[in-house]
Amino acid sequence: MKIYVCKNYEKMSALAANYVAAQVLMKPESVLGLATGSTPIGMYEGLVDKYQNEGISFKDVTTFNLDEYMNLPKENENSYYTFMHDNLFDKIDVKEENINIPDGNVEDFETYSKEFENKIKECGGIDIQVLGIGNNAHIGFNEPDDHFSNTTGVVKLTESTILANSRFFDSEEEVPKKAISMGIGTIVRTKKILLLASGKGKAEAIYKTVCGPVKPEVPASILQFHNDVVVIIDEEAASLLDESIYERV
Ligand code: PGA
Repeated sequence: MKIYVCKNYEKMSALAANYVAAQVLMKPESVLGLATGSTPIGMYEGLVDKYQNEGISFKDVTTFNLDEYMNLPKENENSYYTFMHDNLFDKIDVKEENINIPDGNVEDFETYSKEFENKIKECGGIDIQVLGIGNNAHIGFNEPDDHFSNTTGVVKLTESTILANSRFFDSEEEVPKKAISMGIGTIVRTKKILLLASGKGKAEAIYKTVCGPVKPEVPASILQFHNDVVVIIDEEAASLLDESIYERV
């Protein structure tokens, strides 16, 4: 695990955008695993800028998103479909047919989840997976549990996640209680992982992820076993880490 600590959110976002852009430069037909939430918004702005001003093209890229709320129409302003189109897809040259966001409105989630996993395999696997992290160290919507989930499927959101995400909705009651999410197994089978975190609220989750024991009660701790993880965080998110384990950039 390489850990880079940046002065602030802007620097973290710029470094993360460089990292993803380098992947696309190196392999124009890259398969990108993407995340939603507040954390990657600055990185997406950086990627849009690289498309508009630096000639980086996403026309041969395929994308897979980590998760989506269940039973929220995709046109809803809080769906991850809307988030991804507003923050990235509508502003770059990725082809709509190469975009894969889990569908939270299918009839048969079991069959659909298997098809989603198969599609990732058919595309040759995800080259780089971008991750945010929950206050409770969830990745995707994989909440603390007594086992690591393996594949894409339906998950129940915890109270703490519902509360955290209620900031985007008119009330807590409106936050969907379930989601469809890549499994922890799906995430750790990707070739490279880029974990981002910003702010004091993430410091404990980052500390447990990087320094604590690997256990499903801290879902992100499994990243210690992956052999190509880059963690890019700001100073506040790094505030509980010993300086000897990271590089300040
Ligand atoms: P955030 O969410 O980026 O909005 O903090 C991250 C997550 O819950 O995974």
